[in-house]
This record gives sequence, C-alpha cells and structure tokens, in this order.
Amino acid sequence: DRIGQAAGRPAPRVVEADIRDRTAIHDLMERSQFDAVMHFAGLKSVSDSVSRPAEYFDVNVGGLVTVIQAMKSNGVRKLVFSSSATVYDLGAGQGAIREDAPFGPNNPYGQSKLMAEQVLQAQEAAAPDWSVGILRYFNPAGAHPSGLIGECPADPPDNLLPYIAQVAAGQRQYLGIFGDDWDTPDGTGVRDYVHITDLARGHLASLDALERDGHGHVVNLGTGRGLSVQDVRRAYEHACGREIPFRILPRRPGDVASCYCDTQRARDVLGFEARQDVDAICASSWKWVRHLYPEVSPS
Ligand code: UD1
Repeated sequence: DRIGQAAGRPAPRVVEADIRDRTAIHDLMERSQFDAVMHFAGLKSVSDSVSRPAEYFDVNVGGLVTVIQAMKSNGVRKLVFSSSATVYDLGAGQGAIREDAPFGPNNPYGQSKLMAEQVLQAQEAAAPDWSVGILRYFNPAGAHPSGLIGECPADPPDNLLPYIAQVAAGQRQYLGIFGDDWDTPDGTGVRDYVHITDLARGHLASLDALERDGHGHVVNLGTGRGLSVQDVRRAYEHACGREIPFRILPRRPGDVASCYCDTQRARDVLGFEARQDVDAICASSWKWVRHLYPEVSPS
C-alpha cells in the first residue's frame, strides 16, 4: 500500500512465497505475463552467513536457480540481479574499485553472491536471447523521501545507517565504532553510501539498457565517493538535530579500511550517476525513523 501511496499509483500486486518454492514461483510466472524480472530476494548478513552457510547458498544461489527455471519455462529472458561489492577482494586496499578488479569474497554471503553471478553468466552464455544486468551495490542507505518506506531490522542491525538511526531514535544508547586506527583520514572505516532512490534509478536504467543493447552488463552502483563512519555520524546529527554518542570498539572481523567504487562503467553503460548525497540519505532515514517510532518527538 505504501509503495502505491509513495508512487501515486495503485498499489502493486503482492504474492507472498518463498523464493525456493519452485511451484509457487513457476505458477506466478505462468499466471502473469512478465517482460522482465528484478530479483532482490536474498540474505545479506556476513556474520549470519558464517554461522549458517547452507541457508545462504540455498536462498541466494538455489533461489536464483528457481527463478531462472521459472523464467525459462515461461519465456521471460531479461533479469536484473542484486549483487554486491562483497564479491571483490576488498582486502587488497586498492582505490576506487572497477568491475574488472579481482574477486575474493571472504565469507559465505559473498561467496554465494559470486556464485549467483556465475550461474547467471553461464545461463547467458548458454542462451543468447537472455540478457542479465548484474548490479554490484556498494552501501545502500537511506529511505524513501516520503518517509513511508524504509528498513526495519528485527535484530540488532549489522549495518551502520540503521544502527545510527536507532541511536538517534533513543532505542540504543550509543553507536559502537569498529576501530579508529584504520588507514583512512580519520581512522574510521570508509564506505560508498548510495541512496536507495539512486539505486532504484540504477535498476530502471539497467532494464532500459537490457532492452536497448540486447545483451547483459555487470555494473557497480555507488557514488564513487568514500565517507568515514564519523562523516556519516556527523551528517546524521545534522539531520536529526540530536547528538549521536559513540564509543570506539575493537575492529569487526572481516572489515576493511576503505571501499568505494569506480563509476565510469555505470555512466558509460547505464548513463547512471548518483544524485543524492549523505545529507539526503540521513534526512530520509530520519523521516522514516520518526514514522517507525511515533513516540520519537520531532526535532
Ligand atoms: C556489510 C558487509 C557487506 C554486505 C553489506 C550489506 C561486512 C564486512 N561487509 O558491508 O558484505 O554486502 O554489509 O549491506 O560485514 N560500522 C560501525 N559500527 C556499526 C556498524 C558499522 O562502526 O555498528 C562501520 C563498519 O566497520 C564499516 C562501516 O561502518 O566501516 C559500514 O559498515 P556496514 O554498514 O556494516 O557495511 P559494510 O561493512 O561495508
């Protein structure tokens, strides 16, 4: 309903099913005439993937195979896929990461995403009428600017933005910063935070490119700019008008100093450039958080 409200259109039809349920996914595609599929359904926590790797391969790889098979039997040939910067060898400590940088995921989540990419590329190679857009997200963040749609993690969030948002809303006392001795300008980790509305535009551009080019692409989606944990924390303080207290904690296992993308291919292939900055990310997140926790007084 909120998607409809935010878009000013009738709400989209929703069918709830497990991505691994072959019958359900097949029936859905048989009943509806799809031109293309955008496949987002996946698991994404690094720590969770270390404790239950089989589920990550089952959902992220097995689920994708189910989608491909349902597409094959129903004549759908275009797919846009959510991949991740996690497929790269991030420990290499290079500057802006290009799409041809070496792979090297160091956890089951990243390995499942790389494997999913390989499944898609094999499918494309086997069937020349297929075209697949593989989008490697950097750090998706923020909420819909209407404040109607955002993320609501059930468990303590792993990711920075939802964690800061809960501190701002008074749900947590302070932000724990995982290390201030990284080789970065202020010692805290640097990432490429991309607004989810930019990410959404990237998906539409990917679909357009598949239709126009008749073949697939592999593209980074980010801003090309790296921001530190402290940069983001201060931007959120500005957006919500409150202090975000923090404590420096030990480094988190598996973290890297810096990760941001080279945006050249996204510009060349998709005509894509991120438009929103960290202030827009924090403002939209704060608007959503006030919707989520109505008891939080407006600042
Ligand atoms: C993480 C995953 C990445 C996955 C992405 C999904 C790791 C190593 N990487 O990315 O594979 O695709 O989530 O969204 O887990 N930070 C804090 N305190 C917090 C939370 C985060 O200081 O409470 C810091 C982290 O150390 C990092 C930055 O904030 O420097 C961003 O962290 P996060 O949002 O978890 O994203 P990534 O680690 O980049």
